[in-house]
Amino acid sequence: MAIFVTGGAGFIGSQFIRDTVVQNPDELVINFDALTYAGNLENLAPVDHLPNYRMVKGDICSDADVLAAIPDGCSAVVNFAAESHVDRSILSATEFVKTNVLGTQTLLDIARHKKVGRFVHISTDEVGGSMEPNQWFSEDMPLNPSSPYAASKTAAEHLVRAAHHTFGLDTVITRTSNNYGPYQFPEKLLPLAISNALHGRNIPVYGDGLQERDWIHVADNTRALGIVLRRGRSGQTYHIGGRNPLKNLDVLKILLKAVGQPESLLTHVTDRLGHDRRYAIDCSKILAELGWEPEIPFEEGLASTIKWYQDNQKWVERTRSGEYKEYYRRMYGETSADTTNA
Ligand code: NAD
Ligand code: DAU
Repeated sequence: MAIFVTGGAGFIGSQFIRDTVVQNPDELVINFDALTYAGNLENLAPVDHLPNYRMVKGDICSDADVLAAIPDGCSAVVNFAAESHVDRSILSATEFVKTNVLGTQTLLDIARHKKVGRFVHISTDEVGGSMEPNQWFSEDMPLNPSSPYAASKTAAEHLVRAAHHTFGLDTVITRTSNNYGPYQFPEKLLPLAISNALHGRNIPVYGDGLQERDWIHVADNTRALGIVLRRGRSGQTYHIGGRNPLKNLDVLKILLKAVGQPESLLTHVTDRLGHDRRYAIDCSKILAELGWEPEIPFEEGLASTIKWYQDNQKWVERTRSGEYKEYYRRMYGETSADTTNA
């Protein structure tokens, strides 16, 4: 049994691998990652000594890279690899189209030819676009992406469904809401705000700060992904949410209270272009079919996440400075190609 995980050096993929290699010691987990600015092998340090874990550096857009790394008889591909930050897609969408669309199609073609058992594709609630007040995004609603990032994730989903419909590839799509937790790159709202708050630095609030996001702890998400991988119905899409839409300002006030810092750190800045007002995901299907529901209450998950960032300030500093690339050099004796950083 081998699982081919793409993007496993990122935030969610690394949580999935840390869980899976420990819980399933008889399964080989291959972490296939291009190690862009967002990929950090330090995220795998707790498990990288285990015999059922293997890292291969490669690009999902490259047939040659993927073919060289994917084993015969692979039981599943779990595709996390993506450009994931909305603001970056607004600055330039090219890499998003390349990795998120072309990369997904490359993996689909190879999965089909190599007769991979199952293709799990990780998507996002952003494909549904902004919800009205009190509206919840369910699996059967039309897709209506707003940002270049969301548009690229929507295109990828269509290609996954096409591979299932046309070629009978066993595929499952998950759409997750905003994840938070340890090891998240500090360009995203919560890790940025936590590390700024811990140092008494201002926290940028886009526009009026009244946008709503549905927060889920990353460990709740990866538990759901394990269930979908093993028991999800072929060809289906499952929503994985925290059932917890909160306004950004409210999230940040909870955070500031938890770390004992004043609300005066909140600094309104120019709004994100095309900023979606509300995401809220209906995850009743996965509860009804597979018995999964989120277990980590937001304030509890936030408290443990704050503690992780407090205890791992060196990780944040190394991530911000790009120093974490040294870890790759020490492990593999090579220079990582991409040393860009936030
Ligand atoms: P991330 O940015 O932290 O990590 C992405 C990983 O993909 C990195 O390790 C990076 O090196 C790798 N990667 C990028 N381009 C690659 C390429 N061409 N080939 C191989 N590897 C490549 O992302 P994340 O936050 O962990 O998100 C993982 C997935 O979940 C993404 O598909 C994202 O769209 C989706 N998602 C994320 C969230 C969230 O809140 N973070 C919510 C919903 C869905
Ligand atoms: O909804 C799922 C999506 O969540 C994922 O698909 C994306 O990969 C992930 O990046 C995330 O997208 P968001 O745009 O919602 O996350 P971000 O952390 O960038 O922003 C969360 C909210 O906070 C959003 O309304 C913008 C706002 N924001 C963000 C930053 C970085 C601020 O107000 N200030 C900031 O500095």
